[in-house]
Amino acid sequence: MCGIVGYVGSKKATPILIDGLLCLEYRGYDSAGIATIEKDVIKVMKDKGRVNNLYNLDGINDLEGTVGIAHTRWATHGKPSKENSHPHLDNSNTFAVVHNGIIENYSELKDFLSLKRYNFISQTDTEVIPNLIHYHYTNGPESVIEDNYERFLTAVKSAVQDLKGSYAVEVISPLCPDEVIVVRKDSPLVIGKGTDGNYIASDIPAILKYTKDFYLLDDNEFAVVTADKVKFYDNSLTEHNKAIKNIEWDANAAGKDGYEDYMLKEIFEQPTAIRETIGSRFRLGEKCSFDDIEISKEYLSKVNKIYIVACGTAMHAGLTGKTLIEKLCKIPTVVDIASEFRYRDPLIDENTLCIYISQSGETADTIAALKLAKSKGAKTLAISNVIGSSITREADYSIYTHAGPEIAVASTKAYTSQVVLIAILAMYFAEILGTCDEACIEELKADLIDLPSKVEQILDNTDVIKTFANKVYTEKDMFFLGRGTDYNVALEGSLKLKEITYIHSEANAAGELKHGPIALIENGVTVIGIITDEKLVEKSISNIQEVVTRGAKTLIITNQILPNSHFDYVINIPKTPPLISPILSVVPMQLLSYYIAKAKGLDVDKPRNLAKSVTVE
Ligand code: F6R
Repeated sequence: MCGIVGYVGSKKATPILIDGLLCLEYRGYDSAGIATIEKDVIKVMKDKGRVNNLYNLDGINDLEGTVGIAHTRWATHGKPSKENSHPHLDNSNTFAVVHNGIIENYSELKDFLSLKRYNFISQTDTEVIPNLIHYHYTNGPESVIEDNYERFLTAVKSAVQDLKGSYAVEVISPLCPDEVIVVRKDSPLVIGKGTDGNYIASDIPAILKYTKDFYLLDDNEFAVVTADKVKFYDNSLTEHNKAIKNIEWDANAAGKDGYEDYMLKEIFEQPTAIRETIGSRFRLGEKCSFDDIEISKEYLSKVNKIYIVACGTAMHAGLTGKTLIEKLCKIPTVVDIASEFRYRDPLIDENTLCIYISQSGETADTIAALKLAKSKGAKTLAISNVIGSSITREADYSIYTHAGPEIAVASTKAYTSQVVLIAILAMYFAEILGTCDEACIEELKADLIDLPSKVEQILDNTDVIKTFANKVYTEKDMFFLGRGTDYNVALEGSLKLKEITYIHSEANAAGELKHGPIALIENGVTVIGIITDEKLVEKSISNIQEVVTRGAKTLIITNQILPNSHFDYVINIPKTPPLISPILSVVPMQLLSYYIAKAKGLDVDKPRNLAKSVTVE
């Protein structure tokens, strides 16, 4: 939530900053702003609204500074307004700050600073930071340091020591006009090493076109970024070296590549994302390989319970993961929502393996849930799409989906890649433990290899989905029904619909319908049924028939030959085992939500009230 960009180099900073913010708008989009150092002063330009509005601000093109910071906001403290937009200045206009995260003790700090005669213009928690820096710079022990640069860094460190909460912060000052100071705790921040300057961002895609060499800042680590150097310090300001990480993502992968929206592009990228996630993890006739985690048979044999913990779409991927792990590895597996898991004192010990799924690797609740399990002695395994993200740095083991950058707020290719990776992980565990027939695993491997071309088949036939979308886009409610893994994917279909079309929807286990929810079914309501398990066809059909009888309009997504029935629309998808069928059956539902949102004229990539990376609890 909230996006940060920074630049120090030989080029004009403004275009780089705005361009970076545009790439990061998925992190928040209710206001935007930049600050650059212009000769001896800081110039701040900001307003509420989308990043593009910055181009309309008077004087924005006159900014010549080559050092600057920028921010796109997802409001937490204070409504979207010019005053609440970042960057924020201290009262003397000497320090400009952008901040991602939440300062939990900001009202205490505000009271303290108010007593010292500091005034506040905004309702944000962030505004305490530049004023605290100013306070330490002018009143703290550092105020006697003669060297401006050392004094500035020490003042930032002292200010940060006063903060409780999460933060990624950039600070500039005309007192030290050729540097940006950055620091983070529980909020992401990366520094890109370029040839004509150095770049800072909360997410790699924002600066991927300038460099593929990144420093991944650690919690409580400071960096002083100048045009040709980046210096790193720990929280007592002792300098240390840091290794560069080369990120393989293709810069074009972060663009729209001719598609109207990122979401549509990402839906169509799923065959590639699945292929790349399978990568070299297995070949037919050979065992799965996870050299990167090396889990021993001795350890795995002792594991008597697995938790899969995640939020939203990632949690839905976990539901299918549970089915796979229980079926192939015979280890009881519980799926939990991270924000619930962390507050309900889960039963965890050293024989519990906790798996955390997070596309961004930065979701605050998931990170906290991971730390909790570690503190109770469990081993933790992270599944993420972002190399070096916070979750992967905290976990004992980390494995990666290879979906490439996912920019649209509604997750699509990350979900399918996550299910693929958990399927491979479950096969790997089963091979180590010998809990599943080898022939059965071989068959599943062949089915996984076939998935990309089957997704392509679905993507080649979107007409029925479009027609259906155009029939139902004005509706207020929709219902998704399924059994087994079809229920898991129904939850994801329903979430996608809510997120980008604002249509109220519910997913129900088809067998549960008659225990209450059927009371909501009335003439003309839309019901989407998913039927991909041969063993459950009859039962599922009877349940869906119950809504047909009550006048529902039905769309069925299936890989079965259904007996003559009264369904209004049927989307046939290729056959694959029920264990991994969500990877195929989710695709028509993603497209349905997409086409409905388009028919309603909505901004598909940036749905209201949402942000891509939820770094607040
Ligand atoms: C839905 C969606 C969210 C995320 C959730 C977790 O389309 O994107 O529900 O899945 O916020 O995010 P990550 O996977 O980054 O932890």
